[in-house]
Amino acid sequence: MDQNEAPVLDALAEHQQLKRYGFTPPAHRQGRGVDPRVLEVLGEQSFKSDVVAASGLDDRKSSNGYLSSAESLMAEAVGADKAFFTTCGSSLSVKAAMLAVTRGEGELLISRDAHKSVSSGLVLSGLQPRWIRPQWDEDLKLAHPPSPQTVEEMWQRYPDASAALIVSPTPYGTCADLEAIVEICHKRGKPLIVDEAWGAQLPFHPDTPTWAMDAGADICVVSVHKMGLGFEQGSIFHLQGNLVDPVRLNQCADILSTTSANVLIYAAIDGWRRQMVQEGKAMIDKALELARGLRRDIETIPGLHVLEDELVRAEASHDLDILHILIDLSQLGISGYQATDWLRENCRLDMGTNDHRRIEAVISVSDDKGTADRLLDGLRDLSAAAADLPRPPAVVIPPEEDLYLETVMLPREAFFGPVENVPAAEAAGRIAAEMATPYPPGVPLLLPGERINQAAIDYLRSGVEAGMVLPDPADPTLQTIRVVREEPHQRR
Ligand SMILES: Cc1ncc(COP(=O)(O)O)c(C=O)c1O
Repeated sequence: MDQNEAPVLDALAEHQQLKRYGFTPPAHRQGRGVDPRVLEVLGEQSFKSDVVAASGLDDRKSSNGYLSSAESLMAEAVGADKAFFTTCGSSLSVKAAMLAVTRGEGELLISRDAHKSVSSGLVLSGLQPRWIRPQWDEDLKLAHPPSPQTVEEMWQRYPDASAALIVSPTPYGTCADLEAIVEICHKRGKPLIVDEAWGAQLPFHPDTPTWAMDAGADICVVSVHKMGLGFEQGSIFHLQGNLVDPVRLNQCADILSTTSANVLIYAAIDGWRRQMVQEGKAMIDKALELARGLRRDIETIPGLHVLEDELVRAEASHDLDILHILIDLSQLGISGYQATDWLRENCRLDMGTNDHRRIEAVISVSDDKGTADRLLDGLRDLSAAAADLPRPPAVVIPPEEDLYLETVMLPREAFFGPVENVPAAEAAGRIAAEMATPYPPGVPLLLPGERINQAAIDYLRSGVEAGMVLPDPADPTLQTIRVVREEPHQRR
């Protein structure tokens, strides 16, 4: 195939050149009816490019195959057998992958550091999760991807599970030993799904952590907007081998998807793939160089420490994407929540993942010396200002044995069954009927179907006091928790 082509993007250009016009949604008619005040902010071009996919960009039968050609080009570019584009983020793609490999029933081995979209997939599907424990670093209070040995042990305990699902890279940039995990799954003829939402750039550079398709994974899911150059919501499944039926995967995505996919998202993915094939290596080289320099420079700022060696070792992560610069603030005596708010307020800088003691800057191929200097200036100012910030309330992180709650009910049953809201002080021992997810990074601490313990409540309540955001519980302050309704005699 000719990787210099970009079929969706070219079709969009042609659509505009030919002045096609549709008596069909979108009703804004390429921006004609839109309030000029809206156009001033969003730009005329974005509306011009917002056309319906069939009977718009392509004809009613999609007979030009613009989208399928773009997907084939993508698959070829990254060494997958097939690629499918989706427009509801990896949040949709990961659910479709879960449904496709399990056929919507039975057990799935899932790393417990999975993103909340995976947990939502459990609620939707009724699947039984068999949780794979990540490796817990007691000093850093940080979860690393699970080891191959732990995955092997889980297969021994649950040989009938349909597949395994692992997150790599994590939102912290830490990576699992995918090759070893693939081997363990394939020895049993079972597929491995890799949630590689943070890994869009990996196939285009040899010095980044292993790309899931190269490691032999069966499906991997990528968010183009995270580390690639696409619009928010752009996501891709990559698929290879014969353990997963591509038609089923596509149909599972179809039942979850919109029928009004945003062509802008497809076009941006298409153009990004071409750019990566043509220039990706050089662009990523520069980004890696920038990240290395930033790591060195940030380390010299008083009170800041860039995590690197501590993250990659036996008992921790197998590899690290150095574009994720994770900065420990412990010596400054402020929390990641405070630092994030301070940088936004005072320097107009927004940070990525933040927690009780860290902030993260994710470097992309779009960054350059100018943006790196802005980051450094902001961090220097933060370091100077930290002494005057109030001391943050302590966040009570549970010890490992209390961190992973026991799943005693199917997430779906707990979520959809009878529920009640109880004061947090009375929730220990009850079964959660909702998720409670510190966001970012988006890994739920409480999941529907898990028996709540006091340590989890103390962690979340103290976290909220310190600035943690919980987007999903009915009461985001967590003064009350939604639990499964039980008759008094059923309670433990
Ligand atoms: C590991 C992981 N998986 C999946 C997702 C969902 O991706 P999206 O935002 O593209 O829906 C995220 C989002 O942060 C994530 O961090």
